[in-house]
Amino acid sequence: MKYPIVLAMTGASGAIFAVRLLDLLIRNSIDVHLTISSSGAEVIRQELGREIDLRNFQISDLLPGITEADSLTYHHEHDYLTPIASGSFRTSGMVLAPCSGSTLSAIAHGASNNLIQRAAEVHLKERRKLILMPRETPLSLSAIENMRSVTLAGAVVLPASPGWYHGVKHLDDLVDFIVARILDQLDLENKLISRWAEQSDADSETPTE
Ligand SMILES: Cc1cc2nc3c(=O)[nH]c(=O)nc-3n(C[C@H](O)[C@H](O)[C@H](O)COP(=O)(O)O)c2cc1C
Repeated sequence: MKYPIVLAMTGASGAIFAVRLLDLLIRNSIDVHLTISSSGAEVIRQELGREIDLRNFQISDLLPGITEADSLTYHHEHDYLTPIASGSFRTSGMVLAPCSGSTLSAIAHGASNNLIQRAAEVHLKERRKLILMPRETPLSLSAIENMRSVTLAGAVVLPASPGWYHGVKHLDDLVDFIVARILDQLDLENKLISRWAEQSDADSETPTE
């Protein structure tokens, strides 16, 4: 990747998707700027049983198998004095996974109440790749309209809605389906899952450019 990827975890269900994505990016030494909302940290606690201190972030608290990550830069959700708050800092795109309905709404309406929403707005204004992974069902009319607005503005809405056609045997297969779609959007080659009408060759975890 020429430039870093921004990854934001907000307070929708599905923290596992971002954890898997982040693990893959770090293990492949891809530069990542990470930020997590306080609701995102609550979801991580509820769903994964992992306590995240947003003021004193340690990667091992989120990814217990990793103690150091040179390619990772963490930013607090209220710290605007960071590179990702500005369009002058170049990135290869931003992923919001999961993306809560409230963050989706803020992005759709151009309200930048925290660093995550500001960085998303920057990606829209700079016409860069912005991938939002909402997790909600059923959808309210406002959520549908917000998805329409961000799509018109250039974002990709990529719901946490896995397919079942790739030989699902384990929960991880469903997680990898979505993570593979995100990696595809970032133009990172991967063989996490076998693709439609392909033989199963899901033996490589290496995202490459
Ligand atoms: C355990 C838990 C699960 C939640 N699940 C969802 C969800 O699946 N989708 C959603 O849009 N909001 C969900 N919410 C609500 C959001 O976290 C809430 O709207 C919050 O204000 C979002 O803030 P943020 O966008 O800054 O992270 C959940 C909240 C909690 C505590």
